[in-house]
Amino acid sequence: MNYRHAFHAGNFSDVMKHALCVAMMRMLTRKPTPLFVLDTHAGCGRYDLGAGPAERTGEWRAGIGRLRDDPPDALADYLSVVHGEGLYPGSPALLRAMLRPDDRLACCELHPDDFLALKREFGRDRQVSLHLRDGWEALRALLPPAQKRGLVLIDPPYEAPDEFFRLADGLGAGVSRFRTGVFVAWYPIKHRAPVREFHAAMASSGIADILAVELYLRKPLDAARLNGCGLLVVNPPFGFEAAAPALLGALIDRLGNNEPGQGCRIDRLADE
Ligand SMILES: C[S@@+](CC[C@H](N)C(=O)[O-])C[C@H]1O[C@@H](n2cnc3c(N)ncnc32)[C@H](O)[C@@H]1O
Repeated sequence: MNYRHAFHAGNFSDVMKHALCVAMMRMLTRKPTPLFVLDTHAGCGRYDLGAGPAERTGEWRAGIGRLRDDPPDALADYLSVVHGEGLYPGSPALLRAMLRPDDRLACCELHPDDFLALKREFGRDRQVSLHLRDGWEALRALLPPAQKRGLVLIDPPYEAPDEFFRLADGLGAGVSRFRTGVFVAWYPIKHRAPVREFHAAMASSGIADILAVELYLRKPLDAARLNGCGLLVVNPPFGFEAAAPALLGALIDRLGNNEPGQGCRIDRLADE
């Protein structure tokens, strides 16, 4: 448990993950039936980018910091949710901001300090339940929800060498319990090889309707750097596959540094 998200809040990969999640939540909330949203690795909910760890690394300056002026149309909805939240919102605050009165959010976090921060923020919120528990275990314990529709965000820290394996296993367990759920899993792109292996495992998992949506700052050649990141999406909401290219295009346009290999890609790993 060394990873602390506060050092990385608002960086390019946070922005990519959150912008696409906001788009998916917007699509899901078009239908009136209630949603269940599960954030398996929640972090502390909100971050002060001008102080403490975030200020020390300054990673946010090359992320959300580049979207302050003249926001591109494709990101306007995401940015309006961010700006409506005061301190920079992590996934729990963003997801909470998009709930309607009958929707529910469950957040899991194992780090005691981050869990305390979540409690301060959402402890009295009747639409949010907080769990000081293992997010991988929650995929088994909290699914399926009573609501028949929902979104599950899986955003682990990738501290453990077998995290891609745990992710494939967790997705299998989660999807088998909640077949209609939208599952969104963030993954780092350092070298291409582990990502290729993960995609192959998912493509042969028997799970249907899988997209891999990726953003590259540069060629993934240096395993010591976060060269890009991806979201694996199972059961993407209607309209997401068509909307994703414009979102990714706007993101790379602002977040890229014109390095060789910069770009984005969308791969369908399994058909509907
Ligand atoms: C990448 S951060 C989450 C960021 C957050 N989802 C966001 O977008 O704002 C990963 C979080 O998972 C927590 N964590 C690590 N292992 C966990 C586990 N097994 N179950 C639940 N949370 C865990 C870490 O303490 C960290 O806060």
